[in-house]
Amino acid sequence: MTKLNWGMIGGGAGSQIGPTHRISAGLDGHFLLCAGAFDIDPDRGKAFAGSLGVSADRAYGDWREMLAAESARDDRLDLVTIATPNATHYEISRAFLEAGFNVLCEKPLTMTANEAREIVEITKESGKVCAVNYGYSGYPLVRQMRAMIANGDLGKIRLIKAEFAHGFHADAEEADNPRVRWRYDPAQAGTSAVFADAGIHAFHMACFVSGQTPTELSADFASLVGDRQLEDDAMINFHFNGGAVCRLWTSAVAVGRMHGLTLQVFGEKGGLSWQQQHPEQLHWTPLNGRTQILERGDSDLSEQAVRASRIPIGHAEGMPVAFANIYMDLADVLNAQRTGAKPDPMALDFPQAEDGYWSMRAIEAAASSAKANGAWTKL
Ligand code: NAI
Repeated sequence: MTKLNWGMIGGGAGSQIGPTHRISAGLDGHFLLCAGAFDIDPDRGKAFAGSLGVSADRAYGDWREMLAAESARDDRLDLVTIATPNATHYEISRAFLEAGFNVLCEKPLTMTANEAREIVEITKESGKVCAVNYGYSGYPLVRQMRAMIANGDLGKIRLIKAEFAHGFHADAEEADNPRVRWRYDPAQAGTSAVFADAGIHAFHMACFVSGQTPTELSADFASLVGDRQLEDDAMINFHFNGGAVCRLWTSAVAVGRMHGLTLQVFGEKGGLSWQQQHPEQLHWTPLNGRTQILERGDSDLSEQAVRASRIPIGHAEGMPVAFANIYMDLADVLNAQRTGAKPDPMALDFPQAEDGYWSMRAIEAAASSAKANGAWTKL
């Protein structure tokens, strides 16, 4: 594999998700960080670029400057990661795709479903890749769930229970803290707070493992702390196109829950259960059988799970490796793009602009259903 030239927008010093991207993209040695506009503050961004080893001529104060300068280079960037706040994703993704760059955008892809549809169309026209960082789909045992379901091990899927419930916005005393407050302000967050921010990962995982998409949903949103205008807790029921029912709970007030992302899938022939806080084990119960624990690193897992696993069984891998699997898939696809070869079909599992679009549709439909007292709403 040839080294791929990589650039970042956002993810500057002190940002939450920037370091995970750098660890994950660096893990397999496929990507070389050679350009970036890392910060809303130009000088701080340039200084940070220098500290990461980016040369001064490719350390930019602003993404527009980066777009103009990088478009003119022969050694063009193979991939641009966008890790800025949500409201900027549409404009930046669109500009880079239109200029012929491949993009990995943080979620949410856009602020509305219409914008996401435009990005899907622009991506198709450009022939480039637009990935969306639903990075938890990179966990080896999540890929194992998908492979087992696709293989028919569970039979027809009847029920999916998906959760992403944490307790970090439960303190009424903290409700006015500016770092918390903006998330519940419709002007800054859009139509939904906790579903758009956290629950959407559970939604993506339910679609990813089942291979199904929703046809309709009914949502109950609750604002349980202070006078929040947007929901800090939601229960959403979905009907999926393959016949599955999905029940999704997301919350920011579930005191004692940490990163409470869990997924259970129940089919005619058995059930699977996985928790992101214990990602090395997948519980599998065949119908009328005993529960078995599948360990990450077991040699008899699916090809997809084996490919996504780096270190031997019994040693914890964790979240940066899950994100690294998205970068591994992208490296495979981008190298194939360079050489004209076909990528490994397993590399095509990374979340794409269509996934970003479905998420935005689900968010809009859930907000509208919740306003209508849970009315079933078509997607
Ligand atoms: P943050 O506020 O901690 O960091 C944002 C960074 O972007 C800062 O360095 C800031 O200076 C920079 N920035 C802001 N505007 C910019 C601009 N116009 N140009 C260049 N840089 C700019 O935010 P955080 O929490 O890291 O979130 C960033 C994105 O990542 C959000 O969209 C969020 O939803 C997503 N995220 C995704 C996660 C996942 O699991 N996939 C987890 C956490 C965040």
